[in-house]
Parts: sequence; structure tokens; C-alpha cells
Amino acid sequence: GIKIVTIGGGSSYTPELVEGFIKRYDELPVRELWLVDIEEGKEKLEIVGNLAKRMVEKAGLPIEVHLTIDRREALKGADFVTTQFRVGLLAARAKDERIPLKYNVIGQETNGPGGLFKGLRTIPVILDICKDIEELCPDAWLVNFTNPAGMVTEAVLRYSNIKKVVGLCNVPIGMRMGIAKALDVDASRVQVNFAGLNHMVYGLDTFLDGVSVQEQVIEAMANPDNAMTMKNISGLSWEPDFIRALGVIPCGYHRYYYKTDEMLQEELEKADTEGTRAEVVQKLETELFELYKDPNLDIKPPQLEKRGGAYYSDAACSLINSIYNDKRDIQPVNTRNNGAIASIEDDSAVEVNCVITKDGPKPISVGDLPVAARGLVQQIKSFERVAAEAAVTGDYNTALLAMTINPLVPSDKVAKQILDEMLEAHKEHLPQF
Ligand code: NAD
Ligand code: G6P
Ligand code: MN
Ligand code: MN
Repeated sequence: GIKIVTIGGGSSYTPELVEGFIKRYDELPVRELWLVDIEEGKEKLEIVGNLAKRMVEKAGLPIEVHLTIDRREALKGADFVTTQFRVGLLAARAKDERIPLKYNVIGQETNGPGGLFKGLRTIPVILDICKDIEELCPDAWLVNFTNPAGMVTEAVLRYSNIKKVVGLCNVPIGMRMGIAKALDVDASRVQVNFAGLNHMVYGLDTFLDGVSVQEQVIEAMANPDNAMTMKNISGLSWEPDFIRALGVIPCGYHRYYYKTDEMLQEELEKADTEGTRAEVVQKLETELFELYKDPNLDIKPPQLEKRGGAYYSDAACSLINSIYNDKRDIQPVNTRNNGAIASIEDDSAVEVNCVITKDGPKPISVGDLPVAARGLVQQIKSFERVAAEAAVTGDYNTALLAMTINPLVPSDKVAKQILDEMLEAHKEHLPQF
């Protein structure tokens, strides 16, 4: 039987994952699911873990669910390790989003200044996990969801000995579903050639039953009635002629870079009214955990779809299934580029369609991104690399460099102000600085 270890098991997303394993049990017989959390997350772990146990019981499957805060105990002999933890919990995310706003800068917890700090908090922890994997389950695959997923994958490739690592995101699935909805067809008929970086991925071409429909999709994107976004990102409409000129399909997160000012104004307004996304999610999370506590609940509640990561388990479980069964199907994942995108270094992490085999993802070469998309992608890649280096070294100047080169940050002076305030605000989770 298969042993899965999920680090950050107390996440409200865990029922998604459990549902995904239950649905695929015939092909993917999971015998043990270990949900790992930390002291601070014990209560969440208990509540969500007990729901997981009820779900498995209802399905009548022999999956043992273990709850623990002893990561090393859990990792022994694991086949797959999935990571979905949040160092500092949502309170830290709220700071990532709010502090930059004081300086009229979007925080953005993945590819923005907030993402730099989420990375600085997360990378030392993931590298510790990598050391434990090396020692306790050296054959395991590490399937990372923890954001910033692109930067985290980059750090694992560059600074650990773990080669069997894959970074995952639900954005490509969300794009495919959004496209299918706009075309009014079943998502199973739609294929998209994805390439770029995490939260910076483009649809280079789109196929309906194998025939390119990219022009139609571009027109659908240009139509303000189709928001095509994630629950956590505003659906502000695109300038139609811009989308036509770009010719490839941007993801929801591209709005932060191509519509910076409008997005900033909206985030400033929200911060003063409903709160930043972290603050909205804090309330959502409280509601979800109230539901999870109900001893009669034994399915994934539909309210979970209000979270931006809805359906992420489809990505995780499909990936694990295809590795385990050597399916050789195509899935967009974060992996070592190996020449798939010409203008990115071979040893950097990219998000690109891959053939998923028992030896992991094999990236499909796309040649290169259109010249208009290339620069932003390279800039974010530079940001991820410099940020990962700062996380590992704890070097102040390197962190300042990462902050300054982020496209959302307007100047070196503002970068330093934001950096200094955030280093102070997050110091309990930044032992390397
Ligand atoms: P959350 O705030 O609920 O955190 C999940 C759990 O991590 C908590 O129970 C917390 O106690 C635990 N945790 C914190 N530090 C830990 C550590 N050192 N070791 C083990 N556990 C630890 O977070 P969430 O909103 O459920 O999101 C979880 C993570 O998944 C975040 O990093 C988020 O960005 C990411 N995410 C990614 C995607 C994607 O597309 N890749 C989608 C959704 C969420
Ligand atoms: C999207 C992204 C995730 C991100 C999530 C945030 O789905 O792909 O990487 O973590 O949104 O959602 P939330 O509900 O936490 O704002
Ligand atoms: Mn994501
Ligand atoms: Mn800048």
C-alpha cells in the first residue's frame, strides 16, 4: 500500500485531498495518510483530521489516517510527501499583504513583496524537510503546494539534494475550466499548452478536441463578461486590444503586473472595507472549521470552494496517480526546465506541460515564449532566484536586491522601507536574519 505524508495537515484544504484519494482509490490504493502539523496547529489538525477519518469511514475504505506533530516519525518510509504549510499562519499573510500597501505597493503573497517574505519564512523549513526526506524516505516524491510554489521549487532544486520534487498549483486547472465555461463545452475536451512560471503561466495555444481554438479563447478573454479568474483575485476586465496583441492567455495573477495601478486601487479600497484577502480568509476559515467540527459531516463541504485553492487536490492526486501508475499523460507542473523554455536556464524551475511518468515529469519543449511575455517571466525568475538566495543566506543586501527587482516595487528607497518594516514585523519567523 501507499504511504502519503501531508505536512501542514491542519489546513482547511485537507478534505479536498482526502476526497481526491478516496475518488481514485481503485487505481491509487493509499493505505496510510499521515497528517503532520505543529504545536500551534494542533487544534486545526484534530478537527480536520477527524473529518478526514469520517470521510474515509463513510467511503468504506481501509485508509488509515494518522494525526501527529512528530514530522520525523511520520516521514519514515513515505512514498509521497505533500507540503501545504503556512509558516506564521494567516496572521503572517495579513502582514505580507498590509505592510506594502502602506507604501502604495501591492503585497501579493506569492510573486510580490509579500511573496518574498512568505519565501523567506518558508524556504528554511522546506530545506529542513528535504533533509528529513533524504534520511527517512529517500525514495519519496516531494509534492509541494506551499507558496510561493515557484520560488520554493527553485530553492529545493538549487539548495537541497532532493531531485524528486514537483511543485503544484491549481491555476492551470482553473484556467482550463474557465476556458471550457467560456466556450460552453466540457472541460475534458479542452487542452491548453501551458508555459511560464508559477502564477506567471500563459496558455500558448488551446485545443478543443485537438483543434486549435486559440483565437476564440482570446476573444472570450477580451470579453469583459468572462472574468476568468480565481476566487482570490479580482476579475477586473482586460483591455481587449491588449489581449489580442498579446496572443497568449494570461493567468489571473498577471493582472497584478499588467494592471498594477487598477489592482492597487482596488486592494487599497478593500483593505479599508472588507479587509485584505488574508483577513477575508481568516473569517472563511473560522466558518469552515465550525462546519468541520460537526460529527455528522462526512464529505468535503461545498463552502470550501470559496477558497482560491479549490480543486487543488485534482492537481495533487492526478500527479501522484500518474507517477504511481506510469500514466504518461500530460499535466502542467513546476519542474526543472531542462530546455523546455529556451530563454530560461536549464536548472531553473518552470511551470510547463509535462509527460508524467514513473520517473517523474518530463517537460515538453515549447521553443520559447513570445517576446512580449519573455521579459516579465525572466524578471520574476530573477526575483525568485535572488529571493531564494536571501532565504538561504539570511543576507540583508540580497533581500533588498530581491525586493527592489520585484516589478511591483517602484524604487530602491521604497524597497528598503518595506523590507525593513517587514523584517521587523516577521522577525520571529526569520531566524536566519
Ligand atoms: P494554513 O494557514 O491553514 O496553514 C496550514 C497548516 O500549516 C496550519 O495548520 C499550520 O499550523 C501548519 N504549519 C505551519 N508551520 C508549519 C510547519 N513548520 N510544519 C508543519 N506545519 C506547519 O494555510 P492554507 O491557507 O490552508 O494554505 C496552506 C499552504 O498551501 C499555503 O502555503 C498556501 O499558500 C498554499 N496553497 C497553495 C496552493 C497552490 O496552488 N499551490 C493552493 C492553495 C494553498
Ligand atoms: C490560488 C492559488 C494558490 C493560492 C490561493 C489563495 O488558487 O493558486 O496558490 O494559495 O489561490 O487562495 P486563498 O483562498 O487562500 O486566498
Ligand atoms: Mn497557486
Ligand atoms: Mn522595481
